[in-house]
Parts: sequence; structure tokens; C-alpha cells
Amino acid sequence: MKFIICKDYDEMSRAAADVISDLVAAQPDCTLGLATGSTPIGLYAELVKDCADGKISFKDVDTYNLDEYRGLPADHVQSYHYFMKDNLFDHVDIDQSRTHVPDGSNPDAQAACAEYEAAIKAHGGVDLQLLGLGHNGHIGFNEPNTEFVKETNCVDLTESTITANSRLFDSIDQVPTQAYTMGIGTIMAAKKILVVANGEGKADIVAQAFFGPVTPQVPASVLQFHPDVTVVVDAAAGSKCPQQ
Ligand code: GLP
Repeated sequence: MKFIICKDYDEMSRAAADVISDLVAAQPDCTLGLATGSTPIGLYAELVKDCADGKISFKDVDTYNLDEYRGLPADHVQSYHYFMKDNLFDHVDIDQSRTHVPDGSNPDAQAACAEYEAAIKAHGGVDLQLLGLGHNGHIGFNEPNTEFVKETNCVDLTESTITANSRLFDSIDQVPTQAYTMGIGTIMAAKKILVVANGEGKADIVAQAFFGPVTPQVPASVLQFHPDVTVVVDAAAGSKCPQQ
């Protein structure tokens, strides 16, 4: 595992963007697994700049997002599909028919998840998977559990996740209580993994996930078993980690 502690959020965003930019430059038809949340917003802004500067092009890139709220259609302002358009897809030269997000508008959870999992496999998998980190150690929307769920699945969001994500909704009762998410197995199948985390509030979970025991109670801890993981954090999020 490569563990990089940056000075601040901007440096973290640039360092993480470099990992993605370098891959896109070297392999213009790569497949990116993408994430939402506040953490990668700066990183996406850096990728938009790289594309505007002609450093990289997304025209042959395919993307598969980690997760989506169950019940939110793609054009809902709080959907992850909308987030991706707003933060990346509408600002780069990507072919939007090659971008994929689980279909939150499909009420048939089993079908929506099975279709998404099959589509990723049929495509040949993901070259680089970007991940943020939930305060409880979730990746995608894989919440603390008694097992590592292998494939794309429908999860009941925990109280802590609903509370954390309610900041983006008008009120807490508008936060969906379920989501479709790539499974831990889907995530672990990516060739390369890039994790970003920032802020003091993530310091405990960063230390537990990457330096503590591997347990489904801290879903991100399984990443310690992946052969190619880069973790990029700011100084605050890295402050409780053992000396590097
Ligand atoms: C959400 C997303 C995750 C994200 C996490 C952290 O619940 N499903 O993919 O990593 O929250 O979000 P933030 O970056 O806003 O802290």
C-alpha cells in the first residue's frame, strides 16, 4: 500500500488527480471506477483543468460509478448521477453514453444490482477504482457488516450515514434509506485502487481502516489485502496514523 499524507485538501486533490491523469494519459481507453461525496470534488476540478489544458482526454474512457441512492432518478439533484455530471462529465470531453451509474430509478433492487454487476464484468472490469471513505469505514455504500458482500447489492443505510449525508438534503427525511452499491468483491476486482480522505473527522477511521485489523465491521480495511492501493490523505485525516 502506498500511503501519501499531503499538507492540505488542495495538495491531496492534486496528488490524487495525478494518479488518475497519469493513467488516462498512458492508457486513453482505460476504465475508471468513480466515487461521489465531498472529498473528491477538488480532485474532479483538477481533472477538468487537465482536460482543458489538453493534458488528458476522456473521449475513449469508460466509467462505472460505485453507487446510487435507491429511488432517485438520474436527473434528481441529489442523485449521484447528477453529481457526476455536475462535477465532471459535463465539463470534460467524455462520451456520456460510456458513463455508468447504478439505476436508482429501478425499484427492482435485485434486477438493478444484477444488471450493473453483469455490465461491469461484461465490459472487462475496472482499471482504477476511486474511493472515498465513510465515517464508519464504508466504501461505496458497503456499511459495516458481519461479512464482506461480494457483488453489487442493495443496502440499508445506517443511521450514521443518513445523518452524515443529510447535510446535502433539505431535511433528513428526504435522505433515501437504501442504496445500490458495488460490492466489496466488485471493488476488490479493480486492478488499482485510489482512496482519498480529508479532515480531522476522518482521522480515526483512516487509522483503523489502513493500520487496524481487517474486518467487515470496517469495510475499507479489506483494502489492505489489495495488491495495488494508493491512499492519499491530508494532514488532518492522516494525523492518527502510525509514523510513515
Ligand atoms: C457517501 C458515498 C461514499 C463516500 C462517502 C464519504 O456515503 N456513498 O462513496 O465515499 O459518503 O463522503 P464524503 O467524501 O462526503 O465524506
